[in-house]
Amino acid sequence: MSEPSRLDDAGRFFDAYADQWDAFYQPENRARAFDYLRREETALEMLDAALPKNARVLEMGCGAGHCALQVAERGHDVECLDVSAEMIAATKRRFEAAGREVTTYVGTLLDLPSDEQYDAIYALGVIDYVPNIRDTFNKARRLLRPGGCLLISYTNDDTVFRKVEMPLKRAAALGMYVATRNKKYRDVALESSTSHSPEEAIDHFRRAGFSVVDERFFSYGIRMGDKWFPPFEVVEDADEKFAERGLSDWGRGFLVLGKKYEAVPSRVRSMHASDIRRVVPLHLATFAGSMGAELGPTYARGFLWWFTQEKDAAAFVYDDGGEVLGYVFGCFLDAQVGMNKTVGPFAAVGLLQNPGLMLRKTFRAELKRRVKLLRGGGEHPSKQDVELPGPVFSLVGIGTSPAARGKGVATALVRRFIDEGRARGAGSIRLSVYRDNDAARHVYERAGFEAYDHPTNPDVLYYAKVLGT
Ligand SMILES: C[S@@+](CC[C@H](N)C(=O)[O-])C[C@H]1O[C@@H](n2cnc3c(N)ncnc32)[C@H](O)[C@@H]1O
Repeated sequence: MSEPSRLDDAGRFFDAYADQWDAFYQPENRARAFDYLRREETALEMLDAALPKNARVLEMGCGAGHCALQVAERGHDVECLDVSAEMIAATKRRFEAAGREVTTYVGTLLDLPSDEQYDAIYALGVIDYVPNIRDTFNKARRLLRPGGCLLISYTNDDTVFRKVEMPLKRAAALGMYVATRNKKYRDVALESSTSHSPEEAIDHFRRAGFSVVDERFFSYGIRMGDKWFPPFEVVEDADEKFAERGLSDWGRGFLVLGKKYEAVPSRVRSMHASDIRRVVPLHLATFAGSMGAELGPTYARGFLWWFTQEKDAAAFVYDDGGEVLGYVFGCFLDAQVGMNKTVGPFAAVGLLQNPGLMLRKTFRAELKRRVKLLRGGGEHPSKQDVELPGPVFSLVGIGTSPAARGKGVATALVRRFIDEGRARGAGSIRLSVYRDNDAARHVYERAGFEAYDHPTNPDVLYYAKVLGT
């Protein structure tokens, strides 16, 4: 078994291995499939503990369908997805032989429609081949029902095995390639699948809005002909002992189970594109006098729209029986430059609609600063945050309507924003406020934010809240 030369070549690569993959799981080959069986057994234990009865489950990268069939035999409704059409064919044959039906898809998670439909999604031995991990995790969140589970196996980057094994494997493959000129050896020597540390894996989950609820390490052993060393039982025993001591660099692989963040029922909900028209007047009133508000409603619409669409951003409204009483929005600091680029054309329209703005010195200065930022110059917004734990989730704007007074709307919005940052794995939340805005400062301080000076503007204060794990 070698690995794909390019990560995005996985489908073509695995097509060629479908028969072999199927054979791995036949009883007579149990010794050869030792590592896959260990992984699968651990995954099934975790799924058993997490799944409701008759759950709807999707396996991503199902291979020859061995695990999926066992999930189906537990009474769940399983669907199988794989980039390799040959692997899907092998899965269908396995289900057919067992007298079961199965729904299959050839492609990636990104090809599926985004409805919240599954109770669980799992992938074993797949993430190492996925080039666009963040998009894949975000898509998994969209495909899962609230409270749904995502189970992913990883190859452990922290282990000594990996550090020793990979260079040896590559050197051996290079030798084989020189001797045989067989392309398959060249592929392994040049590039192979990736591996991740447990911290990186947890970051994938948190950033996409999952809380990590279970994490288990498993090791493989070394194959010697048809035998494994050390034997299966010894490895299993050792895994447990090492895990009990928190030694995460032991297992060659590990599984992480995350739960999709379930929002507490509240009047605060996500801002949809259809809310923007109602939010814009509120936004223009709240930020009256700022550069954004001066550019007028076209710019404000484009600006707010970005926060409803961008995966690194979040926007919420306080919806009181159909009436929008407030809104809040923000994004990870490192996404802000991308935001400026996208909303640039809306700003240009705003300028054409309000050409008199260019006569104002303060406006011209702010515009110059932003253009400089876009060109990669000036102070990047995240630069000022060296002392804050990252990634920093920045609350960019918040506003409430006069009808909201005394209803705790701002507090509910700020709390929701903090929860979102926590669910996405932010290290801290930051915002800025005018020093003389006592009402807003009171809300932030009650929510646990601490003030510090803005580096350049004495009228403005920064507030930050560090999020615990
Ligand atoms: C190492 S095999 C593991 C198969 C199976 N999960 C198992 O444990 O036996 C990896 C599988 O993932 C599939 N795969 C790779 N990248 C994928 C992607 N982005 N989306 C879906 N499947 C993918 C491959 O075609 C292959 O069948």
